[in-house]
Amino acid sequence: MLQVNRVTKVYTNGKKAVDTLDLDIKKGEIFGFIGPNGAGKTTTLKMITGIIAPTEGDVLINGHSILKDAVGAKHQFTFVPDHPEIYDAIKGIEYLNFIADMYDVNKEERRQRIEKYTKIFQIEDALSQTVNSYSHGMRQKLMICGALLPNPNVFILDEPHVGLDPHSAKVLKDLMKEHCDNGGTVLFSSHVLEVVENLCDRVAIIHKGKLIALGTPEEIKHDRSVSLEDIFLEMTKDE
Ligand SMILES: Nc1ncnc2c1ncn2[C@@H]1O[C@H](COP(=O)(O)OP(=O)(O)OP(=O)(O)O)[C@@H](O)[C@H]1O
Ligand SMILES: [Mg+2]
Repeated sequence: MLQVNRVTKVYTNGKKAVDTLDLDIKKGEIFGFIGPNGAGKTTTLKMITGIIAPTEGDVLINGHSILKDAVGAKHQFTFVPDHPEIYDAIKGIEYLNFIADMYDVNKEERRQRIEKYTKIFQIEDALSQTVNSYSHGMRQKLMICGALLPNPNVFILDEPHVGLDPHSAKVLKDLMKEHCDNGGTVLFSSHVLEVVENLCDRVAIIHKGKLIALGTPEEIKHDRSVSLEDIFLEMTKDE
């Protein structure tokens, strides 16, 4: 489904942000990606989604290489970045229609999905307003609605719970579950370890660009009766 094969990123300033990372994410999984600030999560998600090129390695999404077949690979997923930057001068509905056009979502599905997602995120009344009047959370919800519109195979999000109110955070968790129940796959990074522990089938912990743990939350905890947070803090503390 989604394979990260020995991916390394060295930025032009010499910083090695990700070091020979391997991940194999399976169909139907909710996969959580956690690590301290600066660990390399965003860098990894940007390489997976083709926003930046890896220095070494490749990513295959449903068999499509993000390097050799970028368009084929990009048809397999949608991405919600950590900062919801949307062109200010367009209306919410124009943004959603733009996404639906790009992904060839037919009229009926577009109508149904826009109605469903904007209603549960309570932004349907704002759709006729331009994005410059949206709060941070509203922009984020608009982006999430846009990313769900094409019903992507893989739904990828970078710290999606930051900035969402408790109601919206719960809606997003439920939508992630629904996506997987319908055969889709979800990959997201987060600092909200309680959400990761309760929601994810498997979790990867990255620290200083390297994978330091991978498995179900139970496997990572070695069946000890501690929280994922305890394990995370133990594994990532600086000596
Ligand atoms: N464009 C860049 N040029 C140089 N170094 C960068 C660049 N972007 C990120 N880095 C560095 O790469 C490392 C990994 O950053 P990254 O943004 O991937 O971390 P992260 O795990 O997403 O952190 P956070 O939890 O704070 O979002 C950091 O040391 C960061 O300073
Ligand atoms: Mg980040």
